[in-house]
Amino acid sequence: MNDISTHFNPMAPDQLHDPYPLYARMRRERPVFYSPMFDLWVVTRYADISEVEKDTARFSSVGALDARAEPHPEVRAVLAQAYPRFLSLVQSDPPDHARVRAVFGRALSAQRIAAMEPTLRETADALIDGFIRDGKADLIQRFAYALPGFIICDLLGVPRSDMEQLKRWSDDKTLLMSATAPIEQQVQSAHGFIAMERYFREQLHERRRHPREDLLTLLVPQSMGGTAPLSEQEAVCNAMDLFAAGHETTTGLIGNGLWLLLNAPEQWKAVREDPSLLPNALEEVLRMESPIRGFFRTVMADTALSGVTLPKGSRAFILYASGNRDETQFTEPDRFDIHRADAKKHLAFGKGIHFCVGAQLAKLEGRIAFEQLLRRLPGLRLRTDEAPVFRPYFMLRGFEHLPIAWDV
Ligand code: HEM
Repeated sequence: MNDISTHFNPMAPDQLHDPYPLYARMRRERPVFYSPMFDLWVVTRYADISEVEKDTARFSSVGALDARAEPHPEVRAVLAQAYPRFLSLVQSDPPDHARVRAVFGRALSAQRIAAMEPTLRETADALIDGFIRDGKADLIQRFAYALPGFIICDLLGVPRSDMEQLKRWSDDKTLLMSATAPIEQQVQSAHGFIAMERYFREQLHERRRHPREDLLTLLVPQSMGGTAPLSEQEAVCNAMDLFAAGHETTTGLIGNGLWLLLNAPEQWKAVREDPSLLPNALEEVLRMESPIRGFFRTVMADTALSGVTLPKGSRAFILYASGNRDETQFTEPDRFDIHRADAKKHLAFGKGIHFCVGAQLAKLEGRIAFEQLLRRLPGLRLRTDEAPVFRPYFMLRGFEHLPIAWDV
């Protein structure tokens, strides 16, 4: 048997397809291990992940996503024009975290989210109208990608016509984070990163002059005459992060959900006949196929987890996708069951102070997406002549292509 620590690579083809047998072995044999390939300590058990999430003093989120600490000189040269550090909510610790989170609390209030339901349904319908006569489509490219993309644009208050450009820049940001791409590509992405910063800085200045009913207006710093207790740098970084956080993750939820449900015909039939089962079904989807596979932390003091000491200064990767299949927490964890009573206990939205601030929106988007797909595409099924393709990302789990068909 190969060594778990050197074998772990979420982007390897076998692990892209089905990483769960390996995760089960990790939880059993090496619940916490060092991955030399990624220079990370991987934490795989539910209890240990929860411990890390709770202990913000020992496990810092500052710079958690910032793999620009040691960029290649050519990349560094381009990034010299960027803010020196990326200051977003998800990458902050107390006490800054509470200050920034309060701004998001207002921006993503339950009221504001609930009010989006009619627009969401119209947008889902308009997308379905675009392919309904074809009898087949790539769910990701035609639907699951655009729906949350348009909605996050609406929320931020930027034109939907900018979505594709923002998505490309956001991909650049993701690529820079993993820093495994060829240097040429990293340099190109660094230019995209700078352009995205500039875009949101200009948008914020525009909101300062002409406030609107949108999230960007709520991010305008007090120092610029707005209401947010943020610096300009924080406002720009948070706007950038929000686009990525509110977009690719929900694409994953919709794609992973349809795949799981269509592979379980009895359960698909059950939600078709009774859509009120959808909210719990979506929690189970999040548990079974977490759109964010895991997240990073910096270890601030030597800390033991499951008997293994993580050294001060190292980086940890908390693998939600493994914690969500932990047999000490969930009975028959590999069984997809839309009726599972404790599905909600999953870690897919994190836990503790960083618990996903967009969770309500993501769940609403998921529910409306499925309601409209169920209503409008009779006989919906996975195509057998074309295989789905997973996205080769370290942190995210989802499809690049998911070919589906239905009866016209
Ligand atoms: C299915 C979709 C989604 C998933 C699986 C997801 C997952 C997560 C996870 C795991 C975290 C915690 C990270 C940590 O512990 O460090 C998080 C935080 C966050 N999410 Fe989401 N998310 C989703 C959708 C959204 C949406 C739609 C938005 C915005 C509209 C959003 C915005 C955020 C923000 C701003 C944070 C940082 C919260 C904090 O640090 O206090 N997410 N999300």
